[in-house]
Amino acid sequence: MSETFFVTTALPYANGAFHIGHIMEYIQADIWVRFQRMQGKRVHFVGADDAHGAPIMLKAQAEHTTPEALVARIAADRPRYLEGFHIGFDHWHSTHSSENTQLSQDIYRRLRAAELIESRSVEQFYDPVQGMFLADRYIKGECPKCHAKDQYGDACEVCGSVYAPTELIDPYSALSGAKPVLRSSDHFFFRLSDPRCVAFLRQWLDQPGHVQPQVANKAREWLEGRGERALSDWDISRDAPYFGIPIPDAPGKFFYVWLDAPIGYLASLKSYIDSGKARANGETRTFAELLTAADTRQVHFIGKDIIYFHTLFWPAMLRFAGSPYRVPDNVHVHGFITVSGEKMSKSRGTGISPLRYLEIGMNPEWLRYYLAAKLNANVEDLDFNSDDFVARVNSDLIGKYVNIASRAATFVTRHFDGSIDYPAGTGELLGAAREVLESVRESYASREFARAMRQIMTFADRLNQDFDARQPWVLAKDPDQRAALQNSCARALYGFKVLTCLLAPVLPALAERVARELFGLERSLTWNDALEPPRRINPYRHLMTRIDPKQLDALFEPAGDPAVDTKTATQTRAEEPQATHAMPPGAQTPATLSIDEFKRVDLRVARIAAAEHVAGADKLLKLTLDLGGETRTVFAGIKAAYEPAALVGRLTVMVANLAPRKMKFGLSEGMVLAASGEAGGPYLLAPDSGAAPGMRIS
Ligand code: 2FM
Ligand code: ZN
Repeated sequence: MSETFFVTTALPYANGAFHIGHIMEYIQADIWVRFQRMQGKRVHFVGADDAHGAPIMLKAQAEHTTPEALVARIAADRPRYLEGFHIGFDHWHSTHSSENTQLSQDIYRRLRAAELIESRSVEQFYDPVQGMFLADRYIKGECPKCHAKDQYGDACEVCGSVYAPTELIDPYSALSGAKPVLRSSDHFFFRLSDPRCVAFLRQWLDQPGHVQPQVANKAREWLEGRGERALSDWDISRDAPYFGIPIPDAPGKFFYVWLDAPIGYLASLKSYIDSGKARANGETRTFAELLTAADTRQVHFIGKDIIYFHTLFWPAMLRFAGSPYRVPDNVHVHGFITVSGEKMSKSRGTGISPLRYLEIGMNPEWLRYYLAAKLNANVEDLDFNSDDFVARVNSDLIGKYVNIASRAATFVTRHFDGSIDYPAGTGELLGAAREVLESVRESYASREFARAMRQIMTFADRLNQDFDARQPWVLAKDPDQRAALQNSCARALYGFKVLTCLLAPVLPALAERVARELFGLERSLTWNDALEPPRRINPYRHLMTRIDPKQLDALFEPAGDPAVDTKTATQTRAEEPQATHAMPPGAQTPATLSIDEFKRVDLRVARIAAAEHVAGADKLLKLTLDLGGETRTVFAGIKAAYEPAALVGRLTVMVANLAPRKMKFGLSEGMVLAASGEAGGPYLLAPDSGAAPGMRIS
C-alpha cells in the first residue's frame, strides 16, 4: 500500500439541512475517493457537523430548545441525504465533541507556547437586553453614506459601502431592538502577521500542488496586502454567552467557531480511529501515527468562499502547532453551483432541494453523472440546467452506456446461453482498454471529471459504432455467421465492462449491480477488472430508466405551492392502477368520518430498511419496514416513481393496523402512504426530521 488519503469536505453548519451546494461538494469528493480506492489506495473520508457559534445558539433560543438538541436534530437527518446520494463518508462526527475540545485546546496551547497568541482589548457593541456582544450581522442602523435605513453593521446593501458598525447612525440590536452600548473586552488573537507565519505561508503557497494556481494567487494577494489591506491578526475568542469550546485559562472566553471548525476535521478522524471503526478500513495505526506518516496525504475539498480560512489560518495553525499535526497536502477548491444561471444563497441554497429530488424518486446517479460531466479542477461555477440535465443523462447514460449492454446481452443469452467467446482474440480489445483506462485515470486523479466523462463517452461511441457496423441482428439470422455474431457481442460486452469500471466512481450503485447481476462477480469492480474480458453473463435486467422531463417540473414545483399543499394523500398498494391514486384537489371529496373512526387507523413512522423489485410485478416494490423493533413487509405500487436503492434508509408513514393481505407475491402487512395528483406522483410521505421509526402519528 502506498499513500493513505485523509479526505474531508467543508463541515456544514448544524443549523440547517443540506442544500444542493453541499451535495455537489460531497459528490465531487466522493467520486475522487471512490476512484482512489479503485486504484488500491487506502482512503479515510470523514465529515462532521460544524456545531458552534452564535447563529446556532440564537436559533436554538428562538426555538426554545438547547443548541445540543438542535444540533442533534439536524445530525439525525444527515444520513437520508448521504445515503440517498451514495456519498460514502467513513465517519460523520461533530465539532461539539470531546475530541474537538481536546484537539482545539491542545492546538491553542501549542500556539500560545510558540508566542503566536496575543491578548488585546477590543471595543465592541453590546446588547444590554440580550446580555451579549453583538457580531456585525446582529447590528443594524442607518447607512452613514446613503442614509438607507436598516442596514447591517458591516456593509450597506443599498449603496454597497463598507464601514465599521460604530459608524452606523442610530444603531440598534437586530436581536432585541435595544440601543447597543460600546463595551470593551479582552480578546485573543492569532498572530497571522507574525513574520514566521508569513514566511511559512509564502513557501507553502509557492509549492506546486498544494492549491490550484488561481487559489494560490488569491491567497498571495491577502498575504502580501499593504496598507488598509494588510494581513491582519485573527480574533479567535468570543465572550460568553457563546456556544463553543472554552479557552483554557480564560474563564468566560470561548473559541470563535472558525477556530474549532477545521480542527473538527481532525476530531472526526480521531473519533473514527479511536472508536475502532477505521480497522474495518485496514487502519491499525493511531491517530498520531497516521498523521505523522510520510505517505499520508491530508486533502480538503472546499468551496471558493472559504479559501481565506483554509489557505492562510489553517495551514499556519497546523504548522506552528507542530507534530503530530500535519499541514494540508492539498486544498481543492470548487466554484458554486447555480441553477439556470441563478446564484445560490449560502443559507437557503438554490431552487433544487436535494431531499425533494430523492423523494420524487429521481435517480441519484443521474445527478452524480451530470455533476461529473460538468466538474473540472478549476474554481469555476457550475450551472444546473434542466434541459441540459435531461439531454445529457438520457443521451449518455441510457443512449450510449446502458444501451450497449441491453443490445448485446440479449443476443448472448439467446444464442450462446450466456457464454462469451472471443473468436478474433482479445489483443486489440485489451490494447484499446489500456489506452482509455490510462487517460481516464489521469483525468480522475487530477479532478478533471468532465474530461473523464468525455473520454468515457467517446469510448462508448466507438463501441456503439462498432456494434452497429457489424449488424449482429443480421448475423443472428445466418447460422454460418455464429462466430461473427459471437465476436460482435463479445466486443460490445467487454467494452461495457470497461465502461462500467470507468464509471464506477460516479455510478457506484449501478456498477455494483452490473458486477453482481450481469457479470456474476461476488464483489465490487476494481480498476484492473477492466483488463479481464468477461467469459459469461447472466440474462440482462433493466439497468436505468430515462429521465422524464415531467420529473424536473416536479423538482422545481415551489414549496408551499397550493398544488402541493392540497394534494391528496393516498395509499399506494398492490397492483391498483395509478389512476385510482390521482385525486385532483377538490374532486371526489371523501365522506366525513368521526374523529373516533379516524383514530382507529394506526399510522406509524416507518423506516424503509430494504426495498427491492418484485419479479413479475409491473408496479410493485417490496419494502421491508422497520417500526422501531418490529419489521413488516409491504408491497407498494410505487415502482414507476422510485428506484429501490433511493428508498433505503428513508422514513415514511405506514398504516400499521391494516389487515394483512395475501398477494400473488407474498403477504403484504400494511400500507405506505403517498401523494399523487395531476402534477404526478406517487410521492411518498415523509415525517419531519426528529421523527423516529415506530412513532405514532395522530
Ligand atoms: O462555511 C461553512 O459552511 C462552514 N461551516 C465551513 C467550515 S469548514 C471547516 F473549517 F470546518
Ligand atoms: Zn448606503
